[in-house]
Amino acid sequence: MSTLSVDHLLGIKYLKAEDIQLIFETADHFKEIINRPIKKVPSLRDITIANLFFENSTRTKLSFEIAQKRLSADVINFSASQSSVKKGETLIDTVNNILSMKVDMVVMRHPTPGAAAFLQQHVDARIINAGDGAHEHPTQALLDTYSIKEKFGTIKGKNVVIVGDILHSRVALSNIFALQLLGAQVMVCGPKSLIPKYIRELGVIVETDLKKALQWCDVANMLRVQNERMEVSYFPSVREYTQQYGLNKELLDSIGKEIVIMHPGPINRGVEITSEVADSKQAIILDQVENGVAIRMAVTYLLASKIES
Ligand code: NCD
Repeated sequence: MSTLSVDHLLGIKYLKAEDIQLIFETADHFKEIINRPIKKVPSLRDITIANLFFENSTRTKLSFEIAQKRLSADVINFSASQSSVKKGETLIDTVNNILSMKVDMVVMRHPTPGAAAFLQQHVDARIINAGDGAHEHPTQALLDTYSIKEKFGTIKGKNVVIVGDILHSRVALSNIFALQLLGAQVMVCGPKSLIPKYIRELGVIVETDLKKALQWCDVANMLRVQNERMEVSYFPSVREYTQQYGLNKELLDSIGKEIVIMHPGPINRGVEITSEVADSKQAIILDQVENGVAIRMAVTYLLASKIES
């Protein structure tokens, strides 16, 4: 396969295993390029990309922007907090105004689930979902699975546990879809109140005991508790959460095998993971960030190659 089966990246749910394979192969190529002294290629010189962030972001926004610049695309950035959205403009109006400026591709993060799909139905540009509420965050899942593949050579047959706030996490859902598509077994682990009931229907194992989950897995992906998405208290106190679901060195040493630790960031050090573990050799957190640029270059490049000139 030399082209993606989709015209937009709205979610992992819409991809085939071959799409992910193609994205990985393309990312391998770009990873080699970004480690050269001259990191830039002229591939997207005629393409203009708008990054629309209606929600806060550090890593994802920077990563997309670096990826686009490495491909020589023209980039415009938009943050909701500095825009007319605050003056009551609708999403479609905001975006149509931007598209009148002849934008070919939109990367959007939005707090509403389904926002990227809605946008795709209304505007004539390639859309990349950079996170839509608690729904999907496809490029995060692609860089996570790419990092697992880089570590083990394969994803098939690996046991991966996603730990923490599954209920509010778009990273969890996209990772579940991607890992299953690539043949991994997926477990989620956390307090019952943070695990949605429908999750078992996705063929995911549910475990509430962190030690048992760690003994089962090859990889543990630690998630942040997303307080900003919570209107009520889902657990008694942060201290209690950390006692039951925080990953520390002592616990890690007690399972009798070496596992790989991941985290999508931002890390709440001392809550879901101690600094000692986050900064240890077993953690591949900074590899994930590096791979994020190569993955976003690959996705951008592959979608741009489908734009009719
Ligand atoms: C995640 C997100 O925004 O969904 N972070 C990220 O994109 N690197 C996870 C989080 O906010 O905890």
